[in-house]
Parts: sequence; structure tokens; C-alpha cells
Amino acid sequence: MKKTKVYEIFSDNIDLDIINECSKAIENGELVVIPTETVYGLGANALNKDAVDNIFKAKGRPQDNPLIIHVSNKDIHKYVKRVPKVASELMDLYWPGPLTLIFEKEDIVPYNTSGGLETIGVRMPNNKVALDIIQNSGVPIAAPSANLSGKPSPTDIDSCIEDLMGRVDYIVGGDECEFGLESTVVDCTSDPICILRPGAITIDMLKKVDENAYIDPAILHKETNDFKPKAPGMKYRHYAPNAPLQIIEGELDKTIEKINEIVQNRKDGKIGVICTDETKGKYKADIVISLGNSNDIQQIGSNLFKTLRKMDSLNVDYILCESFSEEGIGLALMNRLKKAAAYNILKV
Ligand code: TXA
Ligand code: MG
Repeated sequence: MKKTKVYEIFSDNIDLDIINECSKAIENGELVVIPTETVYGLGANALNKDAVDNIFKAKGRPQDNPLIIHVSNKDIHKYVKRVPKVASELMDLYWPGPLTLIFEKEDIVPYNTSGGLETIGVRMPNNKVALDIIQNSGVPIAAPSANLSGKPSPTDIDSCIEDLMGRVDYIVGGDECEFGLESTVVDCTSDPICILRPGAITIDMLKKVDENAYIDPAILHKETNDFKPKAPGMKYRHYAPNAPLQIIEGELDKTIEKINEIVQNRKDGKIGVICTDETKGKYKADIVISLGNSNDIQQIGSNLFKTLRKMDSLNVDYILCESFSEEGIGLALMNRLKKAAAYNILKV
């Protein structure tokens, strides 16, 4: 058991002493949970093998799942062999922001960080606390989402404390994550570029720099021989609440009817329903939680992981969730939701 220090610190009120202490900790190979605009990250010095190994241990993460390195500016030549023109255009358009780019790695980045691959994912997060700690520590920070492996990613500091207290040296932050879904991961070693994990930077946004950009077709399917995801992390069971989760997919009226029918017919156990502000009043389940306004897909996405964790804390036995359009950020939302449900989808 480690003695974890928790510091509440917000982007609009930076405390330099805390930044310096956390930066030193990173330099010294310690584990520091940091806020980002997507989800909280479990950070360590990306160039220090032992520190990186400790990330995997703290999370209980499979060793072959590569980490993303977080940088505080666009000068990444030390860490990657080549920055293709499309990639530097993407960096100019969307960094800092929820976009991870995959490059061929330089030798300075250990295989412990890249999960044994010759490539490395790089991202410049849009959160001042994170950027200041990276900048001050003078090294890139390797950081997966700051949850125990398999659990929903943490979008607030309390969720990090719940999962990682006693397992890391520091938990810093306070900012709520703006997006609440992990970054879009884009392979820039291929031409055309390819989305390996959908996020808030959508395919249409990528097409501005590469009109042939495409989405790894495996992303929205249960893994089979025909659909093997290219990102190692996409193959694991993920984001899952304790209770089984089922998605009800179809026209809204029919969805509501079906969910109410399941709720009524269930003899025992506590049922949780996940819906939107517009439909919240229509359910008679034990627990009904809205993800937000159905027209605001970013808000819906930002509340997903928090809501799954909430259902766990309320000890529900079964969760039913409405389905959403896969347009824009909806693709990322449905990708996470389907994985959380282990592809248990009932079409009505
Ligand atoms: O928003 C985010 O990206 C958050 C915050 C903390 O920055 N981080 C995050 O990291 O989600 P993680 O480790 O939970 O997910 C990284 C994903 C995994 O699916 C992994 O397999 C993929 O990115 N990935 C990382 N490096 C890769 C590489 N070299 N090639 C292919 N996929 C890679
Ligand atoms: Mg993760």
C-alpha cells in the first residue's frame, strides 16, 4: 500500500508549489494521476522503464497494451522518427485536444511504454494542470486512463480516488472532464490515416487534412476473425459496470415501451435505466438516470462513464440503456457503450 497524496487543484487557479511537487515526483519515477479534458490519466515518466512498469501494476493492465505519451508542445521529434505532413496539419488544427497520433517511435521511448510495438501514440492534452506538470517535469508523461483495468474511465477526481487510492503516489486535479470519453486514436503511419479508436475528433474533422481517412471497421463489432481491432486496447473487455448492461436499440417509442416491459416483467433485483432528459419521466424503474439533453451528444458522452459508476454505487442488478445515433461524437459514445454492454443489444 502506498501513501497517496491527494491535491485538489483547478486549471483556473493553479498552485505552483503543487505543480512543482508533482513534476518532481514524475521526474523521480513516481505515479501521479493527472486531469485531462478527456478522462483522468495515471501518469509516469514515459522514458523511465520502471516507472512505466509500475503504471501497469497499479492498474492491473495487460503488458501488451501500449500507453499514450502526453507532451506539452508540438515539438515531438525527440520521441518519434518522422512526422508526416498530415500529422503536423492535424496537430496544428487539433492540439492541444482529444487527439492521439500514432508514429514510429524513437529509441529513447522504451518498449515498456509502447507495449513492445515500434510505434507510439502521442497527445497534447488540453488541461492546464496537466500541461504545467508535463512542462515542468521536462519529460513526456505516459498515461492510460486512471481506472482499474476494465472499469469505466474516471471523469472526476473522486472516481480516481475510488480506484487508485493506495496504489499511486499522487492524485491531483479537480476539473471535470470536458469530453468524458477518451481521445480519438489515429494511425499516422498508414496512408491514408485510420481511426483506431473513435473520440471527440470525428472522421469529418480528420477528412479536412486527409480526404481518404477511414475508420477501422472492427471498432463497432464484437471481435471475430473478420473483425480484429488494430489498437491492442480495443480488444479487451472495457468500461464495464458491475451489473450486466443491455442496450435497447430502435425507434424511441418502441424503446421506451420495451424497457418498461422488461422492468415490469422482472421479478427480483434492482433495475437501473439510462436515458435522456426527454425520456426520463417515462420510466418506472427503481433507478432512472439521464445522460443529459438528447440534442447535446457531447454532454451525453461526458456523462456516460460517471453514470455507469453511479449505477455500481447504487448496487443495481441490471442496467438498461437507450441507444444513440452514431453520427459525430455519437460513434465514440456508442463504441464505449457497446463495449460496456459486451455487445448485449436488443433490437426492437
Ligand atoms: O484520452 C485519452 O487518450 C486518455 C487520457 C488519459 O489521455 N488516455 C487513454 O489511454 O485513454 P489508454 O491507455 O486507456 O488507451 C490508449 C489506447 C488503447 O486502446 C491502446 O491500445 C491504443 O490507445 N494505442 C496506444 N498506443 C498505440 C499504438 N502504438 N498502436 C495502436 N494503438 C495504440
Ligand atoms: Mg483506458
